[in-house]
Amino acid sequence: MPERLFEDFKYFDYKFPEPQYLGAKYVMLDWIRQFIPKDVKSALDAFGGSQSVSFLFKQLGFQTITNDFLNFNYQIGKALIENLSGKLTEDDLIILFQKSPTKSDFTLIENLFTGIFFEKEQAFFLDNFRANIPLLESDYKKALAFTVMFRSITRKITMGHFAHTQALSYASNPERIRRNRSLVRPVKDIFCELLPLYNNAVFDNSQQNISHHKNILELLPEIRNVDLVYFDPPYCNSHADYQSFYHLLETYTEYWKDKEFINGINRYEPQRYSGFDKKSVAIESFEKLFALAEGIPYWLISYNDRSYPAIDVFEQILKKHREVQIETRTYRNGRGGKGSVAGSREILFVCSPKTNISLANCKITMRPFEYWQKLHQSEALGEFNTNRSGLLWLKIKSILRKDLIKDFVASSRCRVSETGLNAQFKELYNLLSGDIETAHSLLDDYTRKISSSQIASVNEQKLSSELYKLKTFDWGGDYQNSLDKYLVSRYIKVDNPSYDNLVAKFVTEINPAVQGYVLNSWYNYWSSVLIENIFKSHSAVLPTIGKIKNVDFFVNDMPFDLKVTYLPAEYIKQKRKEKGLPVELTFLKAQAKALEISYNKDAKPGDVHYEITEKMKDRGDDSSKNVLTRLQTETLSILQDAQQQPKMLAKWLYENQGEMRFGAENRLFLVLVDTGNFADSWKLKRNIDLLKPLVVSYLDDFKNQNIKDLELSFSFKGKPNPFNVLTDIIFIVK
Ligand SMILES: C[S@@+](CC[C@H](N)C(=O)[O-])C[C@H]1O[C@@H](n2cnc3c(N)ncnc32)[C@H](O)[C@@H]1O
Repeated sequence: MPERLFEDFKYFDYKFPEPQYLGAKYVMLDWIRQFIPKDVKSALDAFGGSQSVSFLFKQLGFQTITNDFLNFNYQIGKALIENLSGKLTEDDLIILFQKSPTKSDFTLIENLFTGIFFEKEQAFFLDNFRANIPLLESDYKKALAFTVMFRSITRKITMGHFAHTQALSYASNPERIRRNRSLVRPVKDIFCELLPLYNNAVFDNSQQNISHHKNILELLPEIRNVDLVYFDPPYCNSHADYQSFYHLLETYTEYWKDKEFINGINRYEPQRYSGFDKKSVAIESFEKLFALAEGIPYWLISYNDRSYPAIDVFEQILKKHREVQIETRTYRNGRGGKGSVAGSREILFVCSPKTNISLANCKITMRPFEYWQKLHQSEALGEFNTNRSGLLWLKIKSILRKDLIKDFVASSRCRVSETGLNAQFKELYNLLSGDIETAHSLLDDYTRKISSSQIASVNEQKLSSELYKLKTFDWGGDYQNSLDKYLVSRYIKVDNPSYDNLVAKFVTEINPAVQGYVLNSWYNYWSSVLIENIFKSHSAVLPTIGKIKNVDFFVNDMPFDLKVTYLPAEYIKQKRKEKGLPVELTFLKAQAKALEISYNKDAKPGDVHYEITEKMKDRGDDSSKNVLTRLQTETLSILQDAQQQPKMLAKWLYENQGEMRFGAENRLFLVLVDTGNFADSWKLKRNIDLLKPLVVSYLDDFKNQNIKDLELSFSFKGKPNPFNVLTDIIFIVK
């Protein structure tokens, strides 16, 4: 037998004591095991429950990290996963069964559950045992005492959970007793019978295993260096409410002093927040969960064909992050939990990292630090697209902040002797250049880990709702990006410095202008955060953490700046001309005259356009409708041309950018168009339901793009040489 195979079975003589827990995967372990990749050395069981899957990981010799947001599950993890040697001895049993010196402080179980789940005498025993647990010498022994007791209590209760109250009535029913003797056995007897099974399950797999007790969304940002994560969340459609089913075990562990106990079962209230047990929040929680797990290469996810959301929806969510393979297995008999009804299908999503497209023409010609610094400063960015060492320089720059560098150096075990930030930048670059591909993957892992918590901190739905409060998008003035200058030139440095005139203008001009500026800037800023988050949550995208000039993120290792824009009026004007169509405003004015529609001839062009089109809409007669339809059809055909030849519009956008904000970096343009009313295109920035699927499907497909299709050369007035960039346009059309 090859050595590795032998190694695999080293810990398989240890047996996991059969659990009684809804949704436990105890009977599925052999099946799940086949899908664990061979190179895994450490694994996280994110929703550990009874710890049956963690136990498998431990047996496989992995460093095992387990977690459950309930304290009693955490105790089981501590006893059977983290614990390498602590067992309960005869002496420990003497302590546990002695009359407790502090018994008078321990009456919770008797007070709450006598007559519901236990006779008084059994409840008294449980309180006394609970009072003695803290007297054991180590936390592992304490956890083991809890663990065996949980199982003993559960066995005594019909159905093995605490959401129904038949145990006592069944205990006086001979037929029930014949089927389940435990109903009438003292808990102590059951405990003593089970103990050897648990003691024998404690073993040392030569790893530092850890049990955690957190909501997984809080734990994931702290997790490092894990190869595989197993997700077995409570799916909302069936048996999701673990806190109602197992409230008694949690109350026994926590020994709550500050809770209310409600319903016929005396369940504690308030419950802990899960995020995965209610339909209203489940999808959002899964999206957060997967964004946070980006740094872990392999994911296994247990699911059921009766779960919510449906399998195909869930698969789509997953596909944004990983290559997904779906495995199924049919339940022959129902064993409880998560809809595990006979005939239902158990699903396992087997997920592995996506294969990135490699840059066809990418080189690793090493260049000194200063070379890249100079290119970056002079904004000659083309070479960064094609050289892995230039890309490395950019990625280090993206984490160039004192705290981040310190954290990165510690987590990647590099040694840096410089103390100044810029000197550290150079030192790190030189150090990491020694093994460039390892350096890339270290930086990628680190960046994803940090950015995932930044991403998760944005509550998309809430932010989108806030943005929906803006009813109109009116700047209230033409500021040319500077409200300050605008106010000074119009109201301060004026010919007639009349105080009364100035005060009079507050209500009519100044307040609306300031309000318009602030509201629109607020809208633009927060809608970009919303949009950037969609990009940054995708597995093809590596966000920049700190600000790097001209780079918002890398898509499959290509640096890009994101520009959100509309189909520009000037572009439409130019294309109309090229197509031999009249200038739109001239056409409108002529039509207004013909239809005897009056308008303010002294108003600004934009206002004239608005007045005429609104009046035509209000009239609603055939002639007015024809004019409006004709204009709309013409603009739509310009849009369609741009969609078919995006480079044409991209070139126009580069060549017609403002001189003050000139840039020749790679740009990914998001062009928003509301074809029903072009003037309403600003509203699409907050329309997450429209934006998200389009952006995600673009990024899903990005790896199939041909680099040549992204290459663009453009020139700019006053600059002697042409610029070469990579660019593309994502059209968001409603
Ligand atoms: C289906 S069970 C896991 C069963 C487990 N794989 C086993 O074999 O026993 C789901 C578990 O997730 C836990 N849970 C629910 N929401 C959680 C959250 N937000 N974070 C961590 N654990 C959570 C529940 O307490 C429950 O034990």
